[in-house]
Parts: sequence; structure tokens; C-alpha cells
Amino acid sequence: SGVEQLGNMIAEAACIVPFTGAGISTECGIPDFRSPGGLWTRNRPIAFDEFVASADARAEAWRRRFAMEETFAAAKPGRGHRALASLYRAGKIPAIITQNIDNLHQASGFKSDDVIELHGNTTYARCIGCGHAYELSWVKARFDETGDAPDCTICDDPVKTATISFGQAMPEDAMRRATELAQHCDLFLAIGSSLVVWPAAGFPLMAKNCGAKLVIINNEPTEQDDVADLVIRHDIGETLGPFVGN
Ligand code: OAD
Ligand code: ZN
Repeated sequence: SGVEQLGNMIAEAACIVPFTGAGISTECGIPDFRSPGGLWTRNRPIAFDEFVASADARAEAWRRRFAMEETFAAAKPGRGHRALASLYRAGKIPAIITQNIDNLHQASGFKSDDVIELHGNTTYARCIGCGHAYELSWVKARFDETGDAPDCTICDDPVKTATISFGQAMPEDAMRRATELAQHCDLFLAIGSSLVVWPAAGFPLMAKNCGAKLVIINNEPTEQDDVADLVIRHDIGETLGPFVGN
């Protein structure tokens, strides 16, 4: 079966690089983007330019974020996160590339330095000008007090969740490190991503082109199933549950 084949590939690999999308966190109660009920089926994304240009867009972005606060705050790592953390502790995984912003790989035991966040992190905020970091509680208090999304106390530019929006530049250091990892692993696991958002979706192909075996674990078909060495079209928690160790 797929899981048995995956087990063999994991056993044979010396360097495994996982690449995760929102599908690994749905069992933790966090909706993905493109499945039925996903975030982009309910709300149109607010692009970076809109956020910068419009106070209304900023207020709407923060309203949406605060509406999700209980969901993010209550979420605990799922079986997928825990299985990957086990392989990390065992020395099989040097670092993980993620499109997720939910901090759950860190919560499962990955050192922050070993979580390459391509799309940033929603558990804190940053000024889009000077990059100063802010706690969400600070943003919330200011927002509740004034009814407006707050600006940076240092440079007066807007403060945004520390995530990457459409139209916003990708984080250079994360891109460089993800490239390095994709080019030098022998097994690349694309887990829970529709693989439609670029440049992130380029990493599975890059790994494959550099000689790694590519496994795709996702309950729906993806854009890259045809180039994968193994496709497991099944629930992530059930598929990776057997790899949760100590
Ligand atoms: P998507 O919502 O596009 O894809 C998630 C995939 O996971 C879907 O194909 C689901 O069918 C699958 N899935 C969900 N739960 C699953 C489960 N329990 N078991 C197996 N498969 C499951 O999310 P991403 O690919 O992560 O970026 O989206 C990529 C980027 O688009 C995000 O990082 C975000 C979004 O716009 C930005 O906003 C910049
Ligand atoms: Zn600033």
C-alpha cells in the first residue's frame, strides 16, 4: 500500500525535507483555503496593495484575523505535525519548509530556526515599513480603542500580521534556505497543499529535478501528481499517524 511504500522510502532516506500546506492543519480545526468551506471560498483575499492603500482594507484584514483568534489559539499539533517532529528528532529531517502561518510545526517540537516559513506567521504582527514586531494583543487593544488598524509607533507605517499577502515580496532568507534544502535532500514530502501558489509550489519540482524522490500526500489531486514518485490520496493524519514516535 501507499503507507507501506512511504515507510520504506522514509527508512531508506538519509535526508528528508517536508513541505507543508494548510491540509496538515485541518485536523487541528484550522480551515484550509481552497477546499469546500476553505477561507478563500468564504472571503476574497486582501492583496498587499489594497492593505497598503486602504484603511478600510486594513480594518477588514484585522477583523478577519481577530475572528480567527480562538481557532489559532486553541489549535494543537495534529498527527501529521507530530509524525514530522518525530522524524526531525530522529535526525532524518534537517528542517521543514511550510506555507503555513499557524506556528504548529514549532509547537510540535521543531526549533524556530528549522521552520522555513515561506508565507510568514500569523501569531504576531510586523510594521510593513521598518519591520518592527508587535504582539497581536497590542494591535487588538489599539484597534478596539480607536476602531482603526494601528500604525507603527516608530515609523507610522501600517502594522500587519507577519504573513505574506498576495502581491507582497517573498521573504528572501526563507526562499534561499528552502532552495538549498530542496536541492540537497533525497526525499521530499509535499503534504496537504494544492500546489497552486507560486513560487512556493516550485519547491517540489525543484527537489525532483535535483534528484530527490517526490511523495505527495493530499486527499485531492494536485497539479504535480504526474511527476511524483508516490501519490497518497488520503487523509494526512491517518497516513502519517503510524510515524508518530517518541
Ligand atoms: P489549499 O487550501 O490550497 O490546499 C490544501 C489541500 O489540502 C487541499 O487540496 C485539500 O484537499 C487538502 N487537505 C485538507 N485537509 C486534508 C487532510 N486532512 N488530509 C489530506 N489532505 C487534506 O492550501 P495551500 O496549498 O496550503 O498563501 O495554500 C497555499 C497558499 O494559498 C497558502 O499558503 C496561502 C493561500 O493563499 C497566501 O495567502 C500567500
Ligand atoms: Zn515601522
